[in-house]
Amino acid sequence: LLLPELIEISRARTEFLLDNYITNSHDLWPLLKKSMRYSTLNGGKKLRPLFVYAANLALGGVLENADAPAAAVELIHGYSLVHDDLPLMDNSALRRGKPSCHAVYGETLALLAGDALQTLAFQVLADHHSKLSAEQRIKMISVLCNACGADGMAGGQALDMFGKIECISHLEQLYNLKTGALLVAAVRMGAVAANHYDITILDTYAANLGLAFQIRDDLLDFESDEETIGKPSGIDVINKKITYPNVLGIAKSRQKIEELTHAALTASYELGASGAILRELAEYLLQRKC
Ligand code: IPE
Ligand code: IPE
Ligand code: MG
Ligand code: MG
Ligand code: MG
Repeated sequence: LLLPELIEISRARTEFLLDNYITNSHDLWPLLKKSMRYSTLNGGKKLRPLFVYAANLALGGVLENADAPAAAVELIHGYSLVHDDLPLMDNSALRRGKPSCHAVYGETLALLAGDALQTLAFQVLADHHSKLSAEQRIKMISVLCNACGADGMAGGQALDMFGKIECISHLEQLYNLKTGALLVAAVRMGAVAANHYDITILDTYAANLGLAFQIRDDLLDFESDEETIGKPSGIDVINKKITYPNVLGIAKSRQKIEELTHAALTASYELGASGAILRELAEYLLQRKC
């Protein structure tokens, strides 16, 4: 299986699950579900599910067992973006080339959509019909909630809003938490789906790519345009964020992305031939324009 094919499979399977889980429940307040659908099934690269499937594949896992964690990590990601765009955070009215969730449904529903997407992630891990054992499910739930809580994404977002960033290593720590943690969780869950626990090579791979991912995001904010990235460019400057490119400049940021990608590739070589899909994924990310 080559990467372009896996990208299609991953997107289709993830969207199918998200669609089903959001649609198939009680509908007492239809606008809440609409806002949840809007925030998860309306574009987006669906890269975190791809990390789940790729890690699972590299370790010889069964595709079906990666479905629940793939959907779960995308639900967390979707929720994080809805809250990230709120006026009290980044105050961004555009996401994926369309008005942000709160710009369409209002701040109250955006807050609640985020809440509901987050809990749905754990519901899918616990309940989704598959051959995953109870042990695998508990491990995935543990991995995912650690990655999105105070010592993970939420902690990173708090630092992003309030932290005193005094050196580049503070900034890297912040990026590792707000963005890297979820990518590490994605590969860990992909591994657990293949019945592999604690594969440190995969952690190294994903942590390096996670940091590179956020530096690229900042770089795109810095030098690309709204049309291409589907979100307002230059918003980090407007929000007075300290970012990699505005501290170290464009050239050094690009160089750092290459170094991190190289470190990820080196880690993936330790998996031998079966790591090929992870290498393809790392190289694919190096090319990303949005
Ligand atoms: C954006 O993530 C938020 C960051 C962590 C940088 P993506 O660039 O993966 O966003 P979508 O899902 O493709 O819109
Ligand atoms: C994303 O960082 C962090 C999250 C965990 C949501 P950004 O705030 O830079 O992401 P974008 O640029 O709004 O997608
Ligand atoms: Mg932000
Ligand atoms: Mg933002
Ligand atoms: Mg950004």
